[in-house]
Amino acid sequence: MRIFLDTADFEEIKAADKTGLIDGVTTNPTLIKKSGRDPIEVYQDIKDLGITDISMEVTGDLNQMIEDGNRLNEMFSEVITIKVPMTVEGLQACKYFSEDNIRTNVTLVFNAAQAVLAAKAGATYVSPFVGRIDDQGYAGTEVVRSCVDLLRRTNTQVLAASIRSTQRVVRCFYSGADVVTMPPGVFWQMYKHVLTDVGLDIFEKDLIT
Ligand code: E4P
Repeated sequence: MRIFLDTADFEEIKAADKTGLIDGVTTNPTLIKKSGRDPIEVYQDIKDLGITDISMEVTGDLNQMIEDGNRLNEMFSEVITIKVPMTVEGLQACKYFSEDNIRTNVTLVFNAAQAVLAAKAGATYVSPFVGRIDDQGYAGTEVVRSCVDLLRRTNTQVLAASIRSTQRVVRCFYSGADVVTMPPGVFWQMYKHVLTDVGLDIFEKDLIT
C-alpha cells in the first residue's frame, strides 16, 4: 500500500514527507501552474527532499513528448516517472520509454479498456481518475477494481488518482490499488477521528505524573 502526494506545492510535500509515510509524488500541468513555479525547479526541490518517485507529465505530439521526456530523464533519471496521456501518441511514447526501462505513468484513464492498452504499452502505472469518474455518475472505485483484476498478470500497477476523500482512499486500497495519490489535505485527514481526539483528551487528563 503506497501513498503518493498529488501536488506540486513544495511546502506541502515537505511537511507531509516528514511523517515518513510518503512514497512518491505525482504532478500535472495544472498542479505546476497552481504552484506558480518553474516545473524544473519544483522537480529539483522534490528530488532534493529525497522523494524517489516523481511523476512528471509531458504533453504535445509524439516527438514533443519524447523530446521532453528524454530531457527530463537526463536531469532526473534516478527519480523520474514520465507521465503520458492516454492517447495513441501517449501510448507510443509510453512504449518508447518503457523499452528503455524508464518508469511511465499513463494518466487520464477512465475505463478498463484504456488500462489494457496502457499495460500493453508497458506502462509502470495506469492512473484511473476516480473522482472524475464519480462526477460522471459511475463508481470510480469499480474502474479501479476492474483495472486491478485485468492487470494482475502484467507488470503494470494501478495508481488510483483524482482522490477527494479519505473514504475513496480506503475504497481504492480495498479494490486492490497498488498506489493511491492524494492531495495533501486528504492525507492529513486520514489521521483524524473525533473519538481519537476525545480519547486522547481523557488519557491526558487521567495521566498520573
Ligand atoms: C493524477 O495523477 C492527477 O494529477 C490528479 O489525480 C487529477 O486529479 P483531479 O481530478 O483532482 O484534478
